[in-house]
Amino acid sequence: MANVITDEKIPNNVNLSGDKRLQRALEAWQPAFIDWWKQMGPVGWQERDIYLRTAVSVETDGWAHFDYVKMPDYRWGIFLEPKQEGRVHGFGDFHGQPVWDEVPGEFRNLLRRLVVTQGDTEPASVEQQRALGATAPSLYDLRNLFQVNVEEGRHLWAMVYLLQTYFGRDGREEAEELLQRRSGDSDKPRILGAFNEPTSHWLSFFMFTMFTDRDGKYQLAALAESGFDPLARTCRFMLTEEAHHMFVGESGVQRIVRRACELMKQPGGDVRAQGGIDLPTLQKYANLWYSLSLDLFGGEVSSNAADAFAAGIKGRYKEDRYDEHKLIGSHFSMDVLEEGNVVHKDVPMRNALNEVLRTEYIKDCQRGVDRWNKTIKDEGISWEIKLPSNKFHRQIGMWAGHHFSPDGAMLDAATWAARKGEWLPNVADEAFVKSLMHPVYERGKMASWIAPPNKGINALPGDFEYVRL
Ligand SMILES: [Fe+2]
Ligand SMILES: [Fe+2]
Repeated sequence: MANVITDEKIPNNVNLSGDKRLQRALEAWQPAFIDWWKQMGPVGWQERDIYLRTAVSVETDGWAHFDYVKMPDYRWGIFLEPKQEGRVHGFGDFHGQPVWDEVPGEFRNLLRRLVVTQGDTEPASVEQQRALGATAPSLYDLRNLFQVNVEEGRHLWAMVYLLQTYFGRDGREEAEELLQRRSGDSDKPRILGAFNEPTSHWLSFFMFTMFTDRDGKYQLAALAESGFDPLARTCRFMLTEEAHHMFVGESGVQRIVRRACELMKQPGGDVRAQGGIDLPTLQKYANLWYSLSLDLFGGEVSSNAADAFAAGIKGRYKEDRYDEHKLIGSHFSMDVLEEGNVVHKDVPMRNALNEVLRTEYIKDCQRGVDRWNKTIKDEGISWEIKLPSNKFHRQIGMWAGHHFSPDGAMLDAATWAARKGEWLPNVADEAFVKSLMHPVYERGKMASWIAPPNKGINALPGDFEYVRL
């Protein structure tokens, strides 16, 4: 493994200075990235000192360095997990053969599309979250927002490194376009639907980091199995950072839940009247962001997924837990739509791999929701947050264009139209949540709608000055 070089323009452990052409290409892209960051990154906080962690190596202990930094000066670097000598394809048609260090010509387009699609989500989420710094519920949360933002920026660097290194001129053009698309823009939108939805307040931010960043975890984990070794090594290290993003989301919602329960036990018990977010409203936002995130896994039955698996490019979540890695002749049992009816059927496994990955994701989401429900129970309240059916409110895949209730019953269009405001945030809910969004920037203080965190960042107290005003 190349040593970590942090005194160059671009910190890296890929021996960038040994490849002058690549180094020049990335150093030429860097100012465009910084321009994009200043234009589309967090509004209003670029000149402040923020207590952030920066990736400085890939060692399990001590990969991150914590200190105050102004965001435009953040050291976005390129870090790949060390190469494992003798690594072989773990699945697909090339199972057992040596992994690739270069892109095979026949899979070039498929790989490029996967890298670009993953790469596009990274700046998209920074754009979606750019205005949230105006209304953070505490300095702790404000810092966590910016931590997520700078690391999504680094994930963009990770994908741009792959594009610039392995995809020639096409890759350079794709790298430029990653800085040109804009979340929610009608002319040049981001590639995937959930990344064009507004994240206009902190409840959506926490739901986004809970559910949408978790989709990222599963996509990265599937690519971390890749037989294109540089992609696998890149994604493995990205997962290290991703864990914190999901922590921000899950613990953020958990603190809102705890606060709602405390307020329910006050005289009168009206959570909203006391400046909290009530559990039924939380349920609606969970329904929204969970269903948007389910869409990100793609169609239930997919020849693209089969092709990517066959080619050894995108595997399953933790491929080595499975005994069989070729998936010829095996099947996945799942619900499908046939002539307008839901039927349970065996689908050839390779074609069902999006659904296989989505099923793992759903289990992981459920574990998080179980922890929220434990908080509610511990507060002595009888109520449960439930994940809706995987068919509810889908816009991609076979359930799109049909209507289902949260428990998965098929509905006609009129019933859906009449009832969807019970299940998804309506205009009044959105206005109410926004009405609570006032900044709280006094050290250790929290907004009315959220409980304090159990502990601070990097073993510091919760009332640490995470952002210097
Ligand atoms: Fe990311
Ligand atoms: Fe993330």
